[in-house]
Amino acid sequence: PPHRPLFGKHVLITAGPTHEPIDPVRYIANRSSGKQGFAIAAAAAQLGARVTLVSGPVTLPTPVGVDRVDVETARDMAEAVKRTLPVDVAIMVAAVADWRTQDVAAEKMKKRGSAPPALRLTENPDILAMVSVSDKRPKLVVGFAAETEKVIQHATEKRQRKGADWIVANDVSGDVMGGNINAVHIVTAQGVESLPEMPKDDVARALVERIADALVPPASS
Ligand code: C5P
Repeated sequence: PPHRPLFGKHVLITAGPTHEPIDPVRYIANRSSGKQGFAIAAAAAQLGARVTLVSGPVTLPTPVGVDRVDVETARDMAEAVKRTLPVDVAIMVAAVADWRTQDVAAEKMKKRGSAPPALRLTENPDILAMVSVSDKRPKLVVGFAAETEKVIQHATEKRQRKGADWIVANDVSGDVMGGNINAVHIVTAQGVESLPEMPKDDVARALVERIADALVPPASS
């Protein structure tokens, strides 16, 4: 019989970048492809979970058996996440824009031969931190940390600061963002497990198996 240890569990995943509008035709974005988050959604569904995938703008097909909610901005993503709670597990993989423009121009901004416009930025909601302190907090809250230096130290601090149970840290100083390969360190209260470099699909499977084990500890006999 298929191994479905996440049957009966609802898993919420965020993935992809967010787009923060500047004017009707321009936006602030980042290099996130959504691949790692979509791979985790697919892996969780394969293990029997009910999966809600809240995705920023990406060009990926929806994995089989996954409910997908498309959003554009960080604030849209935060709303979609709030509406989806309560869940058993939240895995926040999205590369949420830290800042958005304070005011979105109603019309396309023009050059008009004058000085370039200054963008006034304001902070976006931190969705992971919000989920961690929610009165509907999932049993397991997993965040990601894309770091370019001192990867494990920064991830350990991020775990505490954001109130996540686990932080999956990856070194994005190479071509991880947009690529198919990832090397991650899973930082928990118990310590750090470093996985070798492998395809994002395999990272997804390894992570989701550990999540299943954490939710349903194997019976001792
Ligand atoms: O602080 P930093 O952006 O490095 O944190 C990364 C983690 O926090 C990821 O899990 C990401 O999905 C989540 N995050 C979020 N909302 C934000 C910023 C980050 O959920 N506004």
